[in-house]
Amino acid sequence: MSKCKTSAEVGGMGHSVKRKEDARFIRGQGTYVDDIVRPGMVFMDIVRSPYAHAKIKSINAEKALALPGVAAVITGETLKEYNLHMMPTLMSDTQMVLPIDKVCYQAQEVAAVIATDRYSAADGVELVEVEYEPLPVVVDPHKATDPDAPIIRDDKEGQTSNHIWHWENGDKEGTEEVFQSSDVVIKQKIYLPRIHVASIETCGCVSEFDKANGKLTVWMTTQAPHAVRTVLALVAGHVGLQEDKIRIISPDIGGGFGGKVPIYPGYVIAIAASVVTGLPIKWIEDRRENLQADSFARDYHMDCEIAADKDGTLKGLRIKTLADNGYADAAANPSKYPAGMFSICTGSYDFKKAFVEVDGVYTNKPPGGVAYRCSFRVTEAVHAIERMVDLVADEIMMDAAELRMKNFIPKEAFPYKSPTGWEYDSGDYHTALQLAMDNVGYDELLKEQKEKREKGEFMGIGICSFTEVVGAGPSKDFDILGIKMFDSSEIRIHPTGKAIARFGTKSQGQGHETTYAQIIAEELGIPYTDISVEEGDTDTAPYGLGTYASRSTPTAGAAAAMACRKIKAKAQKIAAHLLEAAEEDLEWEVGKFSVKGVPEKSVTIQEIAFAAYTNHPQGLEAGLEATHYYDPPNLTFPFGSYIAVVDIDSETGEVKIRRFMAVDDCGNIINPMIVEGQIHGGLAQGLAPALFEEISYDDEGNIHGGSFMEYLVPTAVETPHWETDKTTTPSPHHPLGAKGVGESPTVGAPPAIVNAVVDALSHLGVKHIDIPMTPEKVWRAIHKQDAA
Ligand code: CDP
Repeated sequence: MSKCKTSAEVGGMGHSVKRKEDARFIRGQGTYVDDIVRPGMVFMDIVRSPYAHAKIKSINAEKALALPGVAAVITGETLKEYNLHMMPTLMSDTQMVLPIDKVCYQAQEVAAVIATDRYSAADGVELVEVEYEPLPVVVDPHKATDPDAPIIRDDKEGQTSNHIWHWENGDKEGTEEVFQSSDVVIKQKIYLPRIHVASIETCGCVSEFDKANGKLTVWMTTQAPHAVRTVLALVAGHVGLQEDKIRIISPDIGGGFGGKVPIYPGYVIAIAASVVTGLPIKWIEDRRENLQADSFARDYHMDCEIAADKDGTLKGLRIKTLADNGYADAAANPSKYPAGMFSICTGSYDFKKAFVEVDGVYTNKPPGGVAYRCSFRVTEAVHAIERMVDLVADEIMMDAAELRMKNFIPKEAFPYKSPTGWEYDSGDYHTALQLAMDNVGYDELLKEQKEKREKGEFMGIGICSFTEVVGAGPSKDFDILGIKMFDSSEIRIHPTGKAIARFGTKSQGQGHETTYAQIIAEELGIPYTDISVEEGDTDTAPYGLGTYASRSTPTAGAAAAMACRKIKAKAQKIAAHLLEAAEEDLEWEVGKFSVKGVPEKSVTIQEIAFAAYTNHPQGLEAGLEATHYYDPPNLTFPFGSYIAVVDIDSETGEVKIRRFMAVDDCGNIINPMIVEGQIHGGLAQGLAPALFEEISYDDEGNIHGGSFMEYLVPTAVETPHWETDKTTTPSPHHPLGAKGVGESPTVGAPPAIVNAVVDALSHLGVKHIDIPMTPEKVWRAIHKQDAA
C-alpha cells in the first residue's frame, strides 16, 4: 500500500477498496434480466430436438395452441416470412434461428411457444408434435471429412464436405529443419474436451417493442451490448429495426465467462416475436438448455511435436489441430483468427522455430467455440506447450523447473518477437517461477516425493509457467464482424466535483464499478466513492466491444486514463484562470493544481469542476468532460508460474490437491483484492476441467453431461486452498502499465494439475493423461489399463 500515489480516501490504484457494487448484491438488490417485469409481458419456451441429425417432416401446433394461456407457436416457417430464420455467427458463418427442413444437433431449437405465463409456455412445449426422420450422424471430428460422411451443412452453397477452414502460422520448412537437426523429438496427442460455461445465471432476455415509436428495447444477458445492437440493425433492418431505434440493456449479469458473447437463437426468436406481436416477451433458459444448447468451449484435438537438444535446449514446436466446431462455426474469435490466439503456443520459451496448423470441421453438435475465461484459444495453447515441456524434461531426465529456467525468454529480450509473430510486451519469467518455487519449498518437496515413492505412495509436483495474450485489440488486426475491437470511456465531472463515467465494456462480476472509479481517482484525485460507473446501456454508454478475454483493463481501463488526461488538460486551463497564473507555471499533485514553488496557491479538482460551470475562462467551452476511444498499440502479455502438489490414492485413483501456489504478474494492479478474487475464481474454473468437467456425445449424438448430475462443477468441498503471490512487470504501452488478469488462472491451472498427476505416476511409465483426470482414468493409468 505504501507505493500508492493516492490516499486511502481517494482510493486510486493499488488500494484494496471494497467493491462498490457489492452493496446491492449482498442485499439481494441486483437487477438481473429475470427481475425485469413489463406490463402485459408474456413468456416464451422452446421446443428442442431429441435428435442430433434429422429431417423435420412436420410440426403440428394444434394441441399446444388449444392449451389455455398459449398465444402462439413460432416455427422456422413463421420466421422465414420475415427472412429471420437464419442469422450470421460471430465468425461470419450462418446458423439457423429455427429450422425449416432439418435439425443438426440434439437440443437444437425447433419451435417456440408464447404463453401468458412460464408454466403454460412449458406445458405448450410438451404438446407441440414434431415428426422427425433420423439422418446419419457425424460425431467424431476425425471422421467428419471421410468421403462417406454425410454433409451436415448441405444448406451452404459449395459446401461439399464438413471441412470449414484451414489456418496456419509460423515457418513450416524452418521448423522441419530444426526437427531434423535436434537430438530429441517427442510426439503427443492431447485432447482438450468440450466443456461449458456454468455461470450462475443462465441466458435470457426481455424484448419489448414500442409500436408507437418504433423503438425496440431488449434487456439481455450479453457481454457485448453494442455489438448486439449493430448486428441486429444489420440483419433486421429490413423489418424496420434501425440502429437508433434499438436499445440493448445488459443489466446485472450473473457470470458470463465468454458464454454470453454469442447471440443465441432464443434471443432472436423473442425479439422477432415481440416486434410482430407488440407484446413484451420474456425468455429465460433453464439449466439443461444452457448446458446442452449454448456455445461450448475448447474441443481441440492437438497432435503436438517438440524438438530439443539433449542438454534441454528447446528448439522447435509443431502442432496440428482439429477443431470440432459443431454444426456451425460460431466461435467467438476475432475475424482474422479462426483459431483465436492459438499461435501463442510457444509460450514462455525462446523457441527458434514453430509451425501451427488448425482445421475446423462441422459435426452434429451444438455450435460454439467460445473463449471460456480464456483469450481466444490461449487455454488450449498453454495446455499444449506446458505438457510438451514436461515431456521433454521427463525424456532427458531433467528437473521440470530447471528445464523451464533454461529456456525462458530472458527479461532483457522484451519486447520479444515470437516465432509465430506476436510481440510480447514485457515479462520476467525467471523471477515468477523462482518465487513460486521458494514459496512452496520446491527442493523440500522433491525430497519428500522421493521418500514417498520409496514407500509406494504417489505424490506429484506440477509446474505451469504460462504466457497469456489479452486486450484485443489493436484495430489493425482485431475486429468482430468488421467492428474494430477498441473500447471506450466517457467521463463527465459534475459542478460539485462528483463524476459519472460510462464504458463500452460490461462487467459480469469483475467489479468494474469499483476499479474504473479507482482509475479515475488515480488520474484526477476525485475520491472513487464520488464516481458512478455505468455500463451496458447502448442508449447512454459510448460504443465498445464489451467484456471478455480479459480485455476490459487493457482497453476500456486505458480509455478511462486517456479521457482523464484530456479532462486534466482542460482543468489546467481553468486552474490557470482561477489562480491568475500561466498554465505552464502550474504543477499537478493528486487532486489539485498549484503554482510551481508556491504550494499554498492551489485549486482542487472539485473547485476547478465548479468553475467549469460557473466561472470558466472566456473563449473556453464550459463543462468538464471527455470521451476517449482507445485503440491499443499492442496486446498485453500477463504471465505467471503455478505449482500444484498432488497426492493420489492408489486404490481409487482420486487426486487430492495438497497445495497450489499461483504467482501471477498482470503488470500494475488497480485493486489487489479484486485481482486476488479474480485469481481464486479463475483457479476454480481451471481445476474444474482438470478433474471434473466434460461434455461428450455417444455415436448417435446424444449428449453426456447435459445436466449437473453428470457435468460435475466443483463445489467448495473439492476446491483446495489457493496460495497466491505476485510479481509486477508493467506493460510498457498501457497508459497505466496494467495488463488483464481475469483469465490467467483458468489458463494456467489445468496444465499445472496435469503435470503434477503425471509427475506422480511418471516412474510407472505414465507420460500423459487427458483431462478431466477422473479417478477412473487415473486408476487405469496406475494399473496400466487402457481407458477403453
Ligand atoms: O475484461 P475483464 O474485466 O474480465 O478482465 P480484466 O481486465 O482482467 O479485469 C478483471 C478485474 O480485475 C477488473 O475489475 C479489473 O479492473 C481488475 N484488474 C486490476 O485491478 N488490475 C489489473 N492489472 C488487471 C485487472
